[in-house]
Amino acid sequence: MKNVNSNMVPLDGLGIIPERDAGTPPILDIRHLCVDFGGLRAVDDFTLLIGKTEIAGLIGPNGAGKTTVFNLLTNVYKPTEGHILLNGQDTRGKSMHQLNQLGIARTFQNIRLFSGMTVEDNVKVGMSHGYSDSVLSAMLRLPSWWRTERRQHIRALELLDLFNLADKANTLAGNLPYGDQRRLEIVRALASEPKLLLLDEPAAGMNPSETQGLMENIRMLRDEFNIAIMLIEHDMSLVMGICEGIAVLNYGKIIAKGTPKEIQSNPVVIEAYLGEEAVK
Ligand SMILES: Nc1ncnc2c1ncn2[C@@H]1O[C@H](COP(=O)(O)OP(=O)(O)O)[C@@H](O)[C@H]1O
Ligand SMILES: [Mg+2]
Repeated sequence: MKNVNSNMVPLDGLGIIPERDAGTPPILDIRHLCVDFGGLRAVDDFTLLIGKTEIAGLIGPNGAGKTTVFNLLTNVYKPTEGHILLNGQDTRGKSMHQLNQLGIARTFQNIRLFSGMTVEDNVKVGMSHGYSDSVLSAMLRLPSWWRTERRQHIRALELLDLFNLADKANTLAGNLPYGDQRRLEIVRALASEPKLLLLDEPAAGMNPSETQGLMENIRMLRDEFNIAIMLIEHDMSLVMGICEGIAVLNYGKIIAKGTPKEIQSNPVVIEAYLGEEAVK
């Protein structure tokens, strides 16, 4: 498989990105990001770069602030300090929809599908742009509406097929096995054609063989679409197997950044998170 575990190179003294991305600006440039909830600083001075086609990992104990970072990246929360450049553009003040149009899409730690809708319709919900059609043409079912419908249908099936879900297109999402629901959420996020895909604990609740399959899916996505993927995950076989750069968060602060090899042998990370057992 191409592009896997490229050499990482330093960029502007701020972090490391894959060597193959070094000629282009990072997809994500996060500087000194902080957020306070009441008296709690949930994310503290978070600075990170992610390369254009990097698979990046964000790990750390429960409550460390990982999901909060995703919520800051998608403007669910407003940073108390710091800023975020997504593909060179400041994300401040943008709506979630605008950010999606700028190229960021995510999945959630707790699955958020429309369980009463079919698998295919869940994917179509993700196609919020690129298929614009007027309300009038939709109401009147004009030919342009049918063409859009047709294109969306074909695209949804293509995307589902990447995850071997195409034959379940007409199943209600709520009736899918759990692992398939998690994968469908990724397909839905992909439907918006993101440049950066954020996955919050994609392997949570999966068995080892499902996790292995997911790992191959994630790699395939990056290779197929040439996008960046940032994932939060506790399954170290997945994180260490596919991430190129990893940041470790503890009590809202980054305590280490580096390659999987560096992270696994970092005594501070072992002490705070991995434990002695995990690295054997
Ligand atoms: N909306 C919120 N209001 C208050 N505290 C919050 C909010 N969201 C998260 N937190 C707190 O921020 C900390 C980090 O939470 P979270 O980002 O969910 O951790 P992780 O994803 O690493 O497990 C926790 O102490 C959590 O209780
Ligand atoms: Mg979380």
